[in-house]
Amino acid sequence: MPTTDIHILKALLESNQEFVSGNSLATELGISRVGVWARLEKLRDEDFSVEAIRHRGYRLLQQPPRINDRLLRAYMEIQGCRTKTLFLPEVDSTNSEAERQLASGLDAPFVVISSRQTRGRGRLGRVWHSPDDGNIYASFAFRPNLPPMRLRTITLWLGLTVCHLLQEHYNIDASLKWPNDLLIEGKKVAGMLTEARIDADRTRDLIFGIGLNINGDTRSWPPEIARVATSLTAHAKEKILINQIGAHIIGTLIRAYDRFLDGSYEKEFHPLWNQYDGLKDRVISAEIEGQRRQGIAKGIDADGNLRLQIPNSQEEILLHSGEVSLGTESIAGN
Ligand code: BTN
Repeated sequence: MPTTDIHILKALLESNQEFVSGNSLATELGISRVGVWARLEKLRDEDFSVEAIRHRGYRLLQQPPRINDRLLRAYMEIQGCRTKTLFLPEVDSTNSEAERQLASGLDAPFVVISSRQTRGRGRLGRVWHSPDDGNIYASFAFRPNLPPMRLRTITLWLGLTVCHLLQEHYNIDASLKWPNDLLIEGKKVAGMLTEARIDADRTRDLIFGIGLNINGDTRSWPPEIARVATSLTAHAKEKILINQIGAHIIGTLIRAYDRFLDGSYEKEFHPLWNQYDGLKDRVISAEIEGQRRQGIAKGIDADGNLRLQIPNSQEEILLHSGEVSLGTESIAGN
């Protein structure tokens, strides 16, 4: 049944709001017209709104506001993306599930995607609140077999490609706040968490997790959250279709990983960094060896370390990891 649904959904999406004949669908699928009708009835139960008109056929009027595995797959196929994708309506953490799948021998790359996490993890041991609120929680699993040193900039690179996708396809100005946040107008819209297992000098596997707020209605959020976090919908000029953007993100990140691996990302990395650096020339502060230091963010070095220029001195500090606050205010994880 999934492949039948995917075929029907692809036809409805590709028809661009024109009616799709039930007869042709039935012929293409080798089933009866009643069979097609029955599948569409089932899809209606899953929050699809499909118009049916006698002698004209079917037309998709509305899509579900949550991830739907077959719709996601239909969009992925339209975009030519064949990456193995495991959808779980609910999971403890997509990073943990990816880890279990890797341990059980599943071939990489693959993606684990979910609508809700019960134990979502953030950086520095934090909890990543992951309600079923029209968001994407996804983990990308790879077996890079590269020295860990080669992977130092991978999170930044992958984050930049997401910023670029949002800019180019959705006209949304997002920026990357070193080392792992995506911001819109200074508020956090996504967080990234990269975890790797290393054997001697090789990276056995690597999981890149991203939590992206998509459809959340920020007006209904508690003020303390709405002050520091946001959703794509709050900034989009057009309606964001979660399954379409989910497929876009999967395709973008898988291609970006391939380019990272073969080295062809290098010529784009710094131009993209300059375009999407959310801290560029901003006054920031960070905890360095137990001391709070303030300075001006001056981009990154070749290894992805943040350059912090200390005012009224020649001193420049390199930050390898940790948490950075803008001005005197801290942007908390969501
Ligand atoms: C952060 O900003 O601290 C990073 C948050 C990363 C959250 C994502 S959601 C998908 C994946 N699964 C997790 O448990 N965490 C990451």
